[in-house]
Amino acid sequence: MELQFSRHRRLRSSASMRALVRENHLKADDFIYPLFIYEGENIRNEVSSMPGVYQVSMDHLHAEMEDIVKHGIKAVLLFGIPETKDECGGGAYHDHGIVQVATRYIKEHFPEVLVVADTCLCEYTSHGHCGVVEGEKILNDQSLDLLVKTAIAQAKAGADIIAPSNMMDGFVAAIRAGLDEAGYTEIPIMSYAVKYASAFYGPFREAAEGAPQFGDRKTYQMDPANRMEAFREAESDVAEGADFLIVKPGMPYLDIVRDIKNNFNLPVVVYNVSGEYAMIKAAAQNGWVDEKNTVLEMLVGMKRAGADLIITYHAKDAIRWLKEEQ
Ligand code: PBG
Repeated sequence: MELQFSRHRRLRSSASMRALVRENHLKADDFIYPLFIYEGENIRNEVSSMPGVYQVSMDHLHAEMEDIVKHGIKAVLLFGIPETKDECGGGAYHDHGIVQVATRYIKEHFPEVLVVADTCLCEYTSHGHCGVVEGEKILNDQSLDLLVKTAIAQAKAGADIIAPSNMMDGFVAAIRAGLDEAGYTEIPIMSYAVKYASAFYGPFREAAEGAPQFGDRKTYQMDPANRMEAFREAESDVAEGADFLIVKPGMPYLDIVRDIKNNFNLPVVVYNVSGEYAMIKAAAQNGWVDEKNTVLEMLVGMKRAGADLIITYHAKDAIRWLKEEQ
């Protein structure tokens, strides 16, 4: 009797055979590593909900950067935690703002590392919202002015990439025009084009100390139930001059990553957010999942979904594990 069926297992017969036909690969160049810079001195606090992630003050930045470079990470994403906050988030755009200080330091001492500046106001505003607040409302166009000032201050400090994340309409157009006018025509914009109002940002709000003091972010971040809205957001950011498109969070939104990859021709960046990190860390600490294998599987799944780059708190570990595998 002659059976007709395909023998898929032929290509899985040994580690060498599997390596030969492997379709997606992770490499150090894929990763962008987030850093939390704390204004003040002698601070190196582990974020309790994100084991292995630290808030660091400037006096600890050199050692942190040496470790990052040693791991082979080529890009960092900077978040600032200012000493004082105000209504308008002044710490985001002053020349002495903590992200500007850290950027100047990194570009002076580690010039080969790309600095991506997260351009937002929520860590710097007393109300914790990403824009200008009037009553319970977050004002769109008034917020753009502050965001443009922030982007210019970051570019002036030496940031290589501006990454606006506050989800006001028109933020890419406004920032592009502002950067160009200030002479920073060469600085690319990595837009948080598709950013959902996600519960997975919980641990980040502890790390960056930027939780909203009233309400939530649902009038500016996207509804997790929506797909067509992601196309609209990406389309307008492309039209406004974005150079990269971010989809955020990662794991629960890999369908959207694939949609964006298939329909736009800019580099697609996935943000593997704090809650995704915290879940794996917690389960691994309990011995419920194997950390190395779950993390590498998740990250290669993001590449398979269409990510060109991954912003992840796992970057150091992932690169170390990839080296071990070689
Ligand atoms: C700022 C910002 C947030 C994150 C990145 N930039 C928080 C938020 O929008 O509430 C979340 C990142 C993470 O969870 O790892 N707007």
